[in-house]
Amino acid sequence: MSPPSINTRVLRLDPDIPDARCIAEAAKLLQQGQLVAFPTETVYGLGANALDAEAVSRIFVAKGRPAINPIIVHVFDRKGLRKVVAEIPPLAERLIAHFWPGPLSLVLNKHKKLPGEVTAQGPTVAVRSPASRIARDLIAQAGLPIAAPSANLSSHLSPTRAQHVLKDLAGRIPLILDGGKTRGGVESTVINLTVTPPLLLRPGLISPQEIENLIGPIDQHLSSDQPAQALPSPGMLLRHYAPHAVLQLVSTPSITSTLRELLKKSLRVAYLYWTDLPAFSNPKLHLQKMPDNPSACAACLFDTLHHLDDAAFDYIVVQEVPKGDEWLAIRDRLIRASSSKEKAV
Ligand code: TXA
Ligand code: MG
Repeated sequence: MSPPSINTRVLRLDPDIPDARCIAEAAKLLQQGQLVAFPTETVYGLGANALDAEAVSRIFVAKGRPAINPIIVHVFDRKGLRKVVAEIPPLAERLIAHFWPGPLSLVLNKHKKLPGEVTAQGPTVAVRSPASRIARDLIAQAGLPIAAPSANLSSHLSPTRAQHVLKDLAGRIPLILDGGKTRGGVESTVINLTVTPPLLLRPGLISPQEIENLIGPIDQHLSSDQPAQALPSPGMLLRHYAPHAVLQLVSTPSITSTLRELLKKSLRVAYLYWTDLPAFSNPKLHLQKMPDNPSACAACLFDTLHHLDDAAFDYIVVQEVPKGDEWLAIRDRLIRASSSKEKAV
């Protein structure tokens, strides 16, 4: 069921020196139990007061999100963290000292006062301290922990620009803070510290190797060629981060034949590649080279897919992702984006 249509305002802010009046206005809405979309260093989040069960339930309505999918809580620092977790174990202390503020979400035992709506009624909560100035100013000004999933409709692509939020959530939320394009481009790494060894639940901008260098071996349950499929994270529904177009990852030797077949069917096709072009040229085929560097690629990945969706491509063929663990997050997102829609070839 759709929520009643409300007027969605967009306030444009300088991401480095955000206007204090805009931040104050957004913070006030959060204190009143309303929703505000804002940029983090990864993607845009849809925030609500994490301590207000009714406010958090508005997130689920606005996104059409299944209640079994828990939400990441955003805090300013350790003091904010103590309000939402039962305790801070030594491994968490080490990771926090090194990676916060930044794109690392830690799953810890929840504080008894944190509403079950945030955690899908489970005993743990995922928490991170975002690095973007707008997110930090907003949390500080509201004086609250902010529950915020990515600001898109459930299972859609995560937003890296305010326009992407508007596409999905116009009429459903009162305010979007527009700080331009986010720098990171894919969501935070999520690691569960309530199990031994710690378990990687979602690959992200911080690699497993960087984490292991600090705290020793972690369980990945992910080989570098597999998606984060059967993960013990309730929200890890496979089809996710998906464009409207059908997306297909294709091994390099099959690229030419796959593209030929699709073009024969008069489909509008885009091809994203790192190294190999097809063995023919066709003016109807949109070719796009992806950056060779994994961080640069992450920064433009969702933006590229949004752009291709806006241009109404039917089909997005993607060359297999380069080998190596530094490509884990990109491989994971593309495998999820490609799952379960019918393929034409
Ligand atoms: O970068 C990010 O993480 C962005 C920005 C806005 O911070 N947020 C984000 O939230 O991607 P969301 O809701 O789209 O993804 C959160 C992921 C989900 O896969 C969810 O299942 C998992 O984190 N998660 C949240 N709480 C959890 C918990 N208590 N235990 C296990 N997994 C959890
Ligand atoms: Mg999401």
